[in-house]
Amino acid sequence: MAVDFRLQELKSLSNNKDSDLSIAKMRWKMLARALQEGKVQDSLAFPGSVRQFSTFGLIHMLTTDDVENDNAKDKWLQCSCLEEPRLKLKIRILSGRITNDELKGFDNTGNVCIWPSEEVLTYYCMKNKELFGGKSVCELGGGMACLSGLAIAATAGAKEVYVTDGNIRCVENVKCIIEQNLQYFGATHVVSRLLRWDVNEDLLDLKARFDVVICADCLYYDDGRHALVETIWKILKLDGVAVILAPTRGKTFQNFVDLVEKDFMVERLMAYDTHVWELNCRVSK
Ligand SMILES: C[S@@+](CC[C@H](N)C(=O)[O-])C[C@H]1O[C@@H](n2cnc3c(N)ncnc32)[C@H](O)[C@@H]1O
Repeated sequence: MAVDFRLQELKSLSNNKDSDLSIAKMRWKMLARALQEGKVQDSLAFPGSVRQFSTFGLIHMLTTDDVENDNAKDKWLQCSCLEEPRLKLKIRILSGRITNDELKGFDNTGNVCIWPSEEVLTYYCMKNKELFGGKSVCELGGGMACLSGLAIAATAGAKEVYVTDGNIRCVENVKCIIEQNLQYFGATHVVSRLLRWDVNEDLLDLKARFDVVICADCLYYDDGRHALVETIWKILKLDGVAVILAPTRGKTFQNFVDLVEKDFMVERLMAYDTHVWELNCRVSK
């Protein structure tokens, strides 16, 4: 199942390839600067997308200092959601600078912030918890907090939740978040681990393991899309379901749909929730 939430269709991206390229270069420069300076602005852009605001207000995130044994430099947020009173996760937002070498390495977009798609996916998961009860769940490309996966682990009675990313900094941060929230996971087995879609060894032990795969805002990168689809195919059970949420963003969402339609039954949802749809219409104006 593909969930298409038209979060921020970027109208300024035209079909002109040269202009696409220079916009992409400009955005990477802005991203690099923000990461090196250790600060992120709400107007920060990255290839194909603009983060015009920090939250939809679907998941409330308030600063907390109620955290044991932590480096005071990092900011912790207490998350809650009106739709799910049991959601009380503490998550750590990475604030440290990223070195030039790290920047040249693996995709760092997951170290920038929790992107709006992840917030919307978390809200979707909280409102559709019956999808996850007793199930094996995997989040792909979950970024620095893997908020959706951890929210499922804390509230939905899943059998196990693997929260994954290809960037080691994200994975380490999520390990630290898990330690601070162990009391919420009950019998659900929660694992944070490195899973790069293009590295077969990373998923050898995960083949056909999951009933549900979730993923937010991972379709923007043309070269990564094929490996992402292959990964979903390999780790899902035959009757499994993938909930993929992403902005339309130029042709990137459609290109993903074109790929998955070859092997999966695809359902594309737009106005799947009245509240989210109203918010979407407001920010798209
Ligand atoms: C835009 S971020 C989204 C993060 C998070 N889902 C969110 O919305 O806040 C894209 C994520 O995909 C991850 N990623 C990109 N390429 C990947 C790959 N080949 N394998 C695994 N993860 C990858 C990045 O590390 C990053 O965390």
